[in-house]
Amino acid sequence: LCGYASDIELAKKSTLEAILQRGELLVGMEAGYMPFEMADKKGDFIGFDIDVAKEMAKAMGVKVSFVNTAWDGIIPALVTEKFDIIISGMTVTQERNLKINFADPYIVIGQTILLNKKHEGKVTSYKDLNDPQYTVTSKLGTTGEQAIKRLMPKANYKSFEVQAEAMLEVVNGNADAFVYDLPICVTFMAQYGAGKLVFLDEPFTYEPLAWAVRKGDPDFLNWLNNFLSQLKNDGRYEIIYNKWIKT
Ligand code: ARG
Repeated sequence: LCGYASDIELAKKSTLEAILQRGELLVGMEAGYMPFEMADKKGDFIGFDIDVAKEMAKAMGVKVSFVNTAWDGIIPALVTEKFDIIISGMTVTQERNLKINFADPYIVIGQTILLNKKHEGKVTSYKDLNDPQYTVTSKLGTTGEQAIKRLMPKANYKSFEVQAEAMLEVVNGNADAFVYDLPICVTFMAQYGAGKLVFLDEPFTYEPLAWAVRKGDPDFLNWLNNFLSQLKNDGRYEIIYNKWIKT
């Protein structure tokens, strides 16, 4: 009998146990992704993901803390245990899924386009932007950036660390189009679009968003998926969705 292997199994604890022992759920996210996670005037984090994380902690019987982390370093931070889970509008991609695990998707979105109004009628889809005469912006390390490189390889691509800056570049006419997740484009269009932008709001990618955890932790994943199913079916998800996303 191989007693050695079972000792190793025993030593490998679920993140779930660490959370319960600590009495605190540590959530990794990057604020500034409206309406999922952003800071209010007092500096408190608010949004769809924040409310979901609070429900999650309540169901565990622990308190919750948010660890604001730059997007392009958020997966390494999860892997090196800076927090327990990423709840941050993260798209499930096969490349990311090689390094981390995802719970079931909690919403499906896609890439959309905020276009400078001077191109109204001329540019009607991402295909028209696949041309060296156009400069297209998005945020570093996101699926917006990946979509531009994959589907608009002939366009000039300008990458930004702050998504609002990528969008403002199009508002002020230094770039032609901003490519990003549908919900944040809805928010930006309402705030900055009038007379400046055209919203091509038909998503052209398929992007399930999901909570991410470290690999090799089936107990945590099992808890998360059952929690998600409960949240979605007992009315709480709908309340949070209507509060932040429904237009
Ligand atoms: N869905 C996109 C991605 O996964 C962008 C998410 C950005 N989220 C954030 N909280 N900044 O790449």
